[in-house]
Amino acid sequence: TYFTSDRYDLEGKQIVITAGPTREAVDPVRYFTNYSSGKMGFALAEQAAKRGADVTLIAGPVSLPTPENVKRIDVVTADDMFQAVIKAADLADVVIKAAAVADYRPALVATEKMKKSDDAMAIEMERTKDILWTLGQMKTNQILVGFAAESERLDEYAKKKLEKKNLDLICANNIKAEGAGFDKDTNVMTLLRRDGERVELPLQSKHEAANRILDEVKRLDVNHT
Ligand code: CTP
Ligand code: CA
Repeated sequence: TYFTSDRYDLEGKQIVITAGPTREAVDPVRYFTNYSSGKMGFALAEQAAKRGADVTLIAGPVSLPTPENVKRIDVVTADDMFQAVIKAADLADVVIKAAAVADYRPALVATEKMKKSDDAMAIEMERTKDILWTLGQMKTNQILVGFAAESERLDEYAKKKLEKKNLDLICANNIKAEGAGFDKDTNVMTLLRRDGERVELPLQSKHEAANRILDEVKRLDVNHT
């Protein structure tokens, strides 16, 4: 029961997709990360390639096979992802940021394994760069698609991100919804467009959801030119 689109409508489009978490080291044996599985971004890459797009997939540490006809670049940290995305975005018609990028990283990375003591400890964290916001500043006529994972006030927070990051479309995930969540194969999403149009997707597989997102990208692209 695997969903494939029979459309072949993205031929010639250069699409950059990010997926998965990032990983920020504390010392040689420890790191901070998040629960992102990479499934949504990999589903997008697979479906976009099937629909004829030229796909570059920039992936954080995940254990997923590379979809057919997709160029994959593996990265580890938010900073690695920043460099890879900015470089790849240069020639892209569309950038879709499904990755869950770390917002903070340890301000100092210990070169030796940290030893415990009997005291409590605190780790100072510093901000990473916001990749999507940077792309939004650089944008001329690219289509920029973001994701927003929220546990409350979904529409309000997602709309704020759409505006702040100068996006064309944002895919808002309610992480508390039944059938939604990081390691699941299904998702429940609301797509919010820049022009205020709102598309509610039903509970469906991440591959089906990926195709609905690509349909919106296609519609935005048609309106562009
Ligand atoms: N994003 C990014 N670079 C970052 C952080 C986030 O490109 N350093 C992108 C994500 O890939 C996603 C979008 O921004 O497409 C929204 O990410 P999210 O974590 O939901 O929002 P934030 O702006 O980081 O705000 P917060 O985590 O406080 O909700
Ligand atoms: Ca964040």
